[in-house]
Amino acid sequence: MAARILITEPIVDSVIENLQKDYTVDVGRRGQFNSVDALCEVIDRYDALMPMLSNPITAEVIEAGENLRIIANHAVGYNNIDIEAAKNANIHVANTPGVLTEACADLTWALLLSVARHLGPAEDYLRDDKFDGWDPLGFLGRELYGQTLGILGMGRIGTAVARRAKGFGLNIIYHNRTEVDAETEQRLNATYVPSPKKLAARSDILSLHCPLTDETHHLVDGEFIEQMPGHAILINTARGPVIDEQALAEALHEKRLAGAGLDVFEDEPKVHPSLLDAPNCVLTPHIGSATLQTRRAIGQKAADAIKGILNDRDPSTIPNLLTA
Ligand code: GLV
Repeated sequence: MAARILITEPIVDSVIENLQKDYTVDVGRRGQFNSVDALCEVIDRYDALMPMLSNPITAEVIEAGENLRIIANHAVGYNNIDIEAAKNANIHVANTPGVLTEACADLTWALLLSVARHLGPAEDYLRDDKFDGWDPLGFLGRELYGQTLGILGMGRIGTAVARRAKGFGLNIIYHNRTEVDAETEQRLNATYVPSPKKLAARSDILSLHCPLTDETHHLVDGEFIEQMPGHAILINTARGPVIDEQALAEALHEKRLAGAGLDVFEDEPKVHPSLLDAPNCVLTPHIGSATLQTRRAIGQKAADAIKGILNDRDPSTIPNLLTA
């Protein structure tokens, strides 16, 4: 009997079709598996699972998945999966690093430019038929050239953001758990700053690219925001809970920060209500990796890990396994 795979939501067709050549593949409906109960109900029927970030793959789900051999997340982040529980149950876990780097860096810049130049309100103004001619004082924004961009988390995405920043003529400073190598620092013209708070104090624009861990949860809280200059802009395309949204919303409303661009939220899909009407705040629905090219590559990467395990390949030869 062919091995069974559950893909929890519709993904790019070609990835599903490819897996269907060798396996029985079930595809859930949008949102169908956003709860532990829904997953526990069916998971014992499957040998492999391809979950989305919105699916809680808790210890309970893992215990219920008695036939599971691999969980291949359709994402690079994997904070939705209890990795320890998977390890203890001898289930492999895979993610999809690398393929979404450029798409996510592009979106970071889209948010940054949009906040700095008030693109949303300017477009609304035009569509609302208020454009009555060139206005010498209309929608005055911020010039990026010569500003200092702080990058918190200089992994693949942070590095790709820094590469773009060179083209815009920004000064680049960064903080990372470990300092990047001297050659990369030189190539990016990036200067290491020894603590996140010091980085905050020196950045005109601060962009978050760190993973969500116990250490980074609410790293950007009220006290952190107080370190940031009042003219600073905060961008987050990493993970919502890195920011205390209540503290950020208050700072924006009280004009203690000049603006924010957010693609991720603390309690997705909910958005803190006082961010919705905060001044100069651009909000997008977690679309960092949303290009067809990237989503196809994410799906294919997760599918390749599944095939490797189901075909009994030596796990050490399968890329992107987070667990041995
Ligand atoms: C998206 O946020 C991802 O982690 O792939």
